[in-house]
Amino acid sequence: MEIRIEPLPGERRKTPPTDPAALGFGQIFTNRILKADWDEQRGWHDARIEPYGPIALDPAAKVYHYAQEVFEGLKAYRWQDGRVALFRPQMNAARFNRSAVRLALPEVPERLFLEGIDTLVRLEEEWIPSADGTSLYIRPTLIAVEPKLGVRPSDACLFFVILSPVGAYYAGGFNPVRILVEDYYVRAVPGGTGTAKTGGNYASSLSAGLKAKERGFEQVLWLDGIQRKYVEEVGAMNIFFVVDGTLVTPPLSDSFLAGVTRDSVLELAGTLGIPADVRPVAIDELMADVRSGRVSEAFGSGTAAVVSPVGVLGYKGEVVTVGSGGVGPVTRRLYDTLTGIQYGRLPDPFGWLHQVK
Ligand SMILES: Cc1ncc(COP(=O)(O)O)c(C=O)c1O
Repeated sequence: MEIRIEPLPGERRKTPPTDPAALGFGQIFTNRILKADWDEQRGWHDARIEPYGPIALDPAAKVYHYAQEVFEGLKAYRWQDGRVALFRPQMNAARFNRSAVRLALPEVPERLFLEGIDTLVRLEEEWIPSADGTSLYIRPTLIAVEPKLGVRPSDACLFFVILSPVGAYYAGGFNPVRILVEDYYVRAVPGGTGTAKTGGNYASSLSAGLKAKERGFEQVLWLDGIQRKYVEEVGAMNIFFVVDGTLVTPPLSDSFLAGVTRDSVLELAGTLGIPADVRPVAIDELMADVRSGRVSEAFGSGTAAVVSPVGVLGYKGEVVTVGSGGVGPVTRRLYDTLTGIQYGRLPDPFGWLHQVK
């Protein structure tokens, strides 16, 4: 499908911020947006890049009422030599469509997803920051726009992609987080929507996050939705532990998101000679192993932070420090290697990078 590029009027042209410290996450957006429409009669049509701005929808649009929507998150990395690369964007395209199927939304053709992002990122190249650790966050989204309140799949949808320059996650150095194990609320259940990247999962996680903050923790560790016995995810990240020197993470299930970073960490561990074990992790066993010191490191993995070290775990009134409470050597090595590949400082033996420029 051809992508039409609309002119950007001078008065709509903002210039990118110059101070990387002011970027934060997802607060500033670039000048343009990619859009494409879908309806039952015509399928996908009218792919275009327009000036960035509000989207006007009928108040009856299904997305507002029934949360029929999915999204993705990936980044463009600016290399020191000026080139630009995306990290495994095909995985995001595939996950986007798996999410879409789960939410009874139409799949977006892979070419539209990937070429649309390439074209948009190239047009907005001046917005890709170059300071250490910064990047351009890419947010593809698919929403149900049919203006009818009947609970049925929408017969019309809008696909759009917006871009946001983001600051270095660890500008002030690694910052291990305090995690509360959530033993009442659950994020997802088998057969639910936990494997889909859909807004409802995030909306329903917010109150547990508030509860954690009230108790002096920064994030939530989610347990399985049936027995509240097995560890699933941490905040909006997958979870890893180093137990007796072995990297351990729960197996993919039908209740949590299959992270691109999780997959990459596991592949990297293999080549770095770090033993890895993909197996269920029971919370009681985990707490005992943290107490005894068998668990020396814990970290979340995700596109935003790459890895996020866990310093402290709270569960049923007990608070334990993981290892030294700082950043362990396995976490650091995986972080350095993965970011080294993303920013073109290290070779990419896996063919993970997609060069945009
Ligand atoms: C719920 C959830 N789990 C895990 C992840 C990590 O996925 P990825 O590594 O693809 O960013 C994310 C972030 O996208 C997420 O939202």
